Amino acid sequence: MRLTILGGGGFRVPLVYGALLGDRAEGRVTRVVLHDLDEGRLSAVARVLAEQAAGDPDAPEVTVTTDLDEALRGADFVFSAIRVGGLEGRAADERVALAQGVLGQETVGAGGIAYGLRTVPVAVDIARRVARLAPDAWVINFTNPAGLVTEAMSRHLGDRVIGICDSPVGLGRRIARVLGAHPGEAWIDYVGLNHLGWVRGLRVAGRDELPRLLADPDLLGSFEEGRLFGPQWLRSLGAVPNEYLHYYYFNRETVRAYQRAEKTRGAFLRDQQAGFYEEMRRPDAAALTAWDRTRAEREATYMAENRDAAGAGEREDDDLSGGYEKVALALMRAIARDERTTLILNVRNRGTLGVLDAEAVIEVPCLVDANGAHPVTVDPLPGHATGLVCAVKAVEREVLSAAESGSRTTAVKAFALHPLVDSVNVAHALLDGFTAVHPGLAYLT
Ligand code: G6P
Ligand code: MN
Repeated sequence: MRLTILGGGGFRVPLVYGALLGDRAEGRVTRVVLHDLDEGRLSAVARVLAEQAAGDPDAPEVTVTTDLDEALRGADFVFSAIRVGGLEGRAADERVALAQGVLGQETVGAGGIAYGLRTVPVAVDIARRVARLAPDAWVINFTNPAGLVTEAMSRHLGDRVIGICDSPVGLGRRIARVLGAHPGEAWIDYVGLNHLGWVRGLRVAGRDELPRLLADPDLLGSFEEGRLFGPQWLRSLGAVPNEYLHYYYFNRETVRAYQRAEKTRGAFLRDQQAGFYEEMRRPDAAALTAWDRTRAEREATYMAENRDAAGAGEREDDDLSGGYEKVALALMRAIARDERTTLILNVRNRGTLGVLDAEAVIEVPCLVDANGAHPVTVDPLPGHATGLVCAVKAVEREVLSAAESGSRTTAVKAFALHPLVDSVNVAHALLDGFTAVHPGLAYLT
């Protein structure tokens, strides 16, 4: 089984490789091809992987290339984890948006739109190449904004592209833990768009345990989302939102926290990772140790501004191990070996949410087997969630249409229709600001 990783010089690749090393079963991945535009980043990551594999005769073989078509030919699975414009681009998104008084987060609001506008054309090119060169490959999309990018790719790859994110799994795991349930025994009733979903119930032995959580302020204070949103608001909603909804429900506070921060998240990661890749140029550097130190610091500071704004304190130890590689591996195993399982994934809606059309990519529990991911039937969203999901999907559609037509007018419409952009004038200023700093937006005329 051959896995190609696009964005193969990316910082999180060793997480995926680590998960592969733990997989011993028949039909596992035996070859990994890393593709990246930057040779320096590729060799840095290859060094970390070599240290991870040291002493393991069965470790998947790793090759690197900067030739995209060569990387795609013969792939069984393609992971796409690219970052168009790099972390400097992410930091620029934050700066431009904050200068207009709106959020510049990479997946939410104006920042998510800017990042989407420069990523979609690249993702579509990849999707077309996969369709031509590796038509039987399954594409697993990690590239943010993951729902939007998966939808763009699905127009060329149909159900062969599946988007993943670890935040719903993390949320489900935390709720199960505080309720004393085993995550494997619980059914998590979660649905929405990527970074815009809600846990509406958690069933154990057929019984919904969520009301017990919502009724107990101590339990609510004992996990991340409980502290971020506060017991009162969660009770009012009757659901537990994905952590990214903190940017919606407490927008003013999160924008202010970002404005006050010494460095925005993108700027922090840009500098932190520059240090890591620089260190990897030294021939005597301990690659795996340096990588792990950098990773731990990244995990510990994840969403720090939001936690500050909410007075939520530090992250818990259990939440520091991410889980994105586990979702990726579970998905590959289910498809490659027909190991049937249920995962929350980004797939085409079909008829799952009646308020969206069949092609809209949503985030929903899916049964996964050798035939791919099949969304399960879920209860309709409550009105407040329907409102947000439909508004944000409409914005995503404007982004897709601007990426296809190259129309500035359509791009302005995408910004202006977003619930977190409060004026059409601001939308114009945002597009001017983003196009001034991103060469990747030059196609908008
Ligand atoms: C979560 C999100 C991902 C995001 C990751 C890292 O897992 O679901 O979409 O890429 O965090 O966030 P960071 O701010 O560290 O880049
Ligand atoms: Mn995510």
